[in-house]
Amino acid sequence: MDYFELKNGELYAEDVALAEIAREVGTPVYIYSRATLERHARVFREALSGLKHVHLAFAVKSNPNLAVLSLLRQEGYGADVVSEGEMKRALTAGVPAKDIVFSGVGKSKRELAAALDAGIGQFNLESEEEGIELAEIAEARGKQAIAALRVNPDVDARTHAKISTGKADNKFGVAYGDAAAIYTRLSALEGLTMRGLAVHIGSQISDLEPSRVAFIKMGALMRELRESGSSVTHMDLGGGLGVPYKLGEQLPGPADYGAMVEEVTKDWDATIMFEPGRVITGNSGVLVTEVIRVKAGVTAPFVVVDAAMNDLARPALYDAWHDFLAVRPRGEKMVAHIVGPICESSDTFAKNREIDVVEAGDLAIFRTAGAYGATMANTYNSRALVPEVMVDGDKWAVVADRLEPETIFAAERVPEWLI
Ligand code: LLP
Repeated sequence: MDYFELKNGELYAEDVALAEIAREVGTPVYIYSRATLERHARVFREALSGLKHVHLAFAVKSNPNLAVLSLLRQEGYGADVVSEGEMKRALTAGVPAKDIVFSGVGKSKRELAAALDAGIGQFNLESEEEGIELAEIAEARGKQAIAALRVNPDVDARTHAKISTGKADNKFGVAYGDAAAIYTRLSALEGLTMRGLAVHIGSQISDLEPSRVAFIKMGALMRELRESGSSVTHMDLGGGLGVPYKLGEQLPGPADYGAMVEEVTKDWDATIMFEPGRVITGNSGVLVTEVIRVKAGVTAPFVVVDAAMNDLARPALYDAWHDFLAVRPRGEKMVAHIVGPICESSDTFAKNREIDVVEAGDLAIFRTAGAYGATMANTYNSRALVPEVMVDGDKWAVVADRLEPETIFAAERVPEWLI
């Protein structure tokens, strides 16, 4: 459920007309709803209320805006970060270091050291090599790094290939069959306290069965380790729960996921950790765009909008579907291609899509743009970096400025010898 609704014939975010924000901030612009973010954060937490010890770490990569992080911190969420940059954001937003989990297959020595110095709560190691490096860095600093071992359970998440992470040929984690031996060896290292296992099989998961299978495998591994004398007190089950991208689409929700996790983990006697991203932010944001013009086409007209693949990359990267709705619908439909202004054909949001009739100058939204939207934006074609706005009831604020091309190219230099 979200708070982007039609009121008196036009789309609102909570009590603010999207058109008002578009008028003042310009387009394209991402708009987030505070009430929706809070609702999703609470629904996810409540879905897990049957578990004894839970740690929630919001996957910062899905939406790293400081206002979003700060809101989720107030909802009691820690942070799952994958770079020093994300760690700095989480700390800046006031997330306590101990509530931060550092994931990622390519943490550099410098990042490991910075995270140790910051005192982050848990490193999710993705290889034995990384564990050895971290132990050395910690020992040299007279510190103890707390860590979990990410395991690749070789389970197909049945989602888009580019966002699957749990198959043996994906780069993530250590092979299931090697995990117990690696865990035992890492546990023996000075400077490292191994406390748990981690798994994450993919994103936009719409079928809970693969996750169930993966979690059962993780439970078996935990038991094996405990039986051989290792301590395993934490089990990080990652994120990945999918969200509906089409109005009316039915997917397993947090309650179904929570019931499945509760069933699988009932005799685990461990703190269960989660790294949800999309399920909290996805439907909490929309991208507002203006129709530049409707251009005649051979098979269907092209609706050329002022948002492009640099602002919302998901359709170009994953053929992802984002509902497209007129801000002031006329009650009629048309079939069209929706495209942005960028000079390549991948800058296509939809083909032969039945949409609200729109004309030049109309405003429209791409729904479900709160996750992996602004965070994946870039400035290709020297376009501005898209701004972000947060709505709260009848008030709103710009939470990220539009970065104009001049600001961006101010960081570039032409050397003397070139002039
Ligand atoms: N934990 C780990 C270790 C992850 O790799 C991810 C996502 C998450 C948690 C959060 O997953 P979520 O709950 O948001 O599904 N850019 C792609 C999605 C990439 C997801 C990468 N990892 C997209 O736009 O669909």
